[in-house]
Amino acid sequence: MNSSAKFITIEGIEGAGKSTQLRLLAKALTANGEAVTVTREPGGTPFAEQIRDLVLAHTDGPVDPECELYLYLAARAEHVAHHILPRLKSGDWVICDRFTDATVAYQGNGRGLETAWVRHLAEHAGRIKPALTLLLDLPVETGLARMRERGAGNRLDLEHTAFHQEVRKGYLEAAEAEPERIARIDASTSLEQIHRQIVATVNQRLGAHLPAPLAPALEGDR
Ligand code: TMP
Repeated sequence: MNSSAKFITIEGIEGAGKSTQLRLLAKALTANGEAVTVTREPGGTPFAEQIRDLVLAHTDGPVDPECELYLYLAARAEHVAHHILPRLKSGDWVICDRFTDATVAYQGNGRGLETAWVRHLAEHAGRIKPALTLLLDLPVETGLARMRERGAGNRLDLEHTAFHQEVRKGYLEAAEAEPERIARIDASTSLEQIHRQIVATVNQRLGAHLPAPLAPALEGDR
């Protein structure tokens, strides 16, 4: 599978603060004169966003894990073909909120489908490997408490704690298996400290030259 030097994914359990950190990283790259595309999974194109609405909607009963898996894969195939690859080809940095590692952690570790098989399918649908995956890691209780504070909740947020523990375990196993791609970031600290760790990691691993973040860069994101 090809990898692109400018493709970054951000992963983590619920309440890890991915969206905020993704925005801050995009801001830092843009301020440095880089062209940046920010996107997310499931979603990222109008059709994939329709799949997102379907797969994250609350349902009366449980959804079959394989059905769920194929919906995430279908959304990914569409997203990669019609958004991620064209943007990378045009020279942008692409930062994606979740990608193949989420499928392994949630549908494999979380739902109990065979993880090697899920990874194979997820990578096939993904077609391209991220150059860097930032895993925002924190204890499940902290993440879920943050979610409750926000009052948010899709169908998966409502899963019991044990499900999220399995997901976290899956992410940590992935980071151990691929340390050259997946960087574990301690997400239990402050917004500023997490951003600093991310900037340092992107500079170190991808040869970017982002300046250490200054307080004004964080304004509006507190
Ligand atoms: P988020 O945008 O809040 O991160 O929500 C997306 C939800 O979808 C989140 O609960 C994780 C879940 N998900 C999977 O279960 N498998 C996947 O492959 C992806 C991309 C997301």
